[in-house]
Amino acid sequence: MRKFLKIAGLVLGAVVLLLIIGATVINIKGVPTYEAKEPVFIVDSDSMRLERGQKLVSMICADCHMGKDSRILEGGNMDDAGSAFGKIYIANLTHPTTGVPSYTDGQLAYLLRTGVKRTGEYAPPWMPKFPGMADEDMRDIIAFLRSDHPWLTPSDKHVPPSEPSLLVKVLCNFVFKPYPYPEAEIKKPVIADKIAYGAYIANDVYQCYSCHSADFTTNDEFNPEKSEGFYGGGTPMADLDGNPIKSANITFHETGIAHYSEADFIKAVKWGSRPNGEPISAPMSKFSGLDDEEVAAIYAYLKTLPKIDHKIK
Ligand code: HEC
Ligand code: HEC
Repeated sequence: MRKFLKIAGLVLGAVVLLLIIGATVINIKGVPTYEAKEPVFIVDSDSMRLERGQKLVSMICADCHMGKDSRILEGGNMDDAGSAFGKIYIANLTHPTTGVPSYTDGQLAYLLRTGVKRTGEYAPPWMPKFPGMADEDMRDIIAFLRSDHPWLTPSDKHVPPSEPSLLVKVLCNFVFKPYPYPEAEIKKPVIADKIAYGAYIANDVYQCYSCHSADFTTNDEFNPEKSEGFYGGGTPMADLDGNPIKSANITFHETGIAHYSEADFIKAVKWGSRPNGEPISAPMSKFSGLDDEEVAAIYAYLKTLPKIDHKIK
């Protein structure tokens, strides 16, 4: 028995030592880099593109990248992220040598879809990826980011690089990998194809599932519908005062939004008010830039999903 304990002790000691060495190596190595690629991606620009691009950027990117006081997309601290992830700094998109002007259109499309920056560095999970976004929407976004709109006034504000924690470094080495860049054009469904259009904007563009499923760590950005508790809510988050809040179940179960009419849903998503008049709290934003027809398409799509029995509060 004593001999067994001694051997077991030695084995355990060796395992602990290996883990410490492994953690140290990953801590020094950091987030991995990949081959930087520049696919051919041609972005033209006209007033319709810029208008649509502004709408997409205002509802997707501005939440994080907009300077609170400056109203310029110059980034800064991400103050609502837990310290378990390290120190997160949001990139200054307008910076002449490190922001959007330092990227070609192909490099930007590559970053937004795969997560690999023009330098080959991998953008950690706090920068979302859009592997299923249609070419047309991607062009609208890039065209707008290159426009002379006031939000894009060049700013030389220096934003330091993020300092990911060991946990994030380990996850980026073993769990999170760049998504493959699509080989063919990704086509946008037409709005007349209501359910397909609703699925596309809810999952691939505005990523409603990313907050409305079980947890950020079990979401699948590449195959959103494989995310755990898809649209059943419960992701722990914080409101504007830093108080804990959980995302809502927005499947059509009675513990979710079975009581919502289409008109109720439009009011909730665009104007942040529940059918009984109660306000919907941050971090849910008001998607006021969506057309009623688009929100109705999301409603039609959510109706097709399995109803999840999950009471949130
Ligand atoms: C949830 C917050 C969030 C959203 C939403 C977001 N970003 Fe980011 N973005 C970040 C953070 C944080 C970084 C810094 C990444 C890092 O730490 O390396 C970043 C980095 C970037 C970079 C710089 C990459 C580099 O070379 O350093 C670009 C360009 C960018 N984002 C564009 C966008 C665009 C375009 C959108 C909208 C389609 C968007 N982001 C949406 C948080 C966000
Ligand atoms: C950044 C995270 C986040 C994103 C993205 C998000 N939501 Fe929400 N949403 C929340 C949270 C948190 C709540 C619960 C707020 C509360 O309890 O007051 C909520 C509540 C709701 C409600 C109210 C449900 C109820 O119980 O009455 C609806 C409807 C809704 N969201 C729809 C959407 C749709 C549609 C999208 C995409 C266009 C979306 N949300 C994107 C975080 C998010």
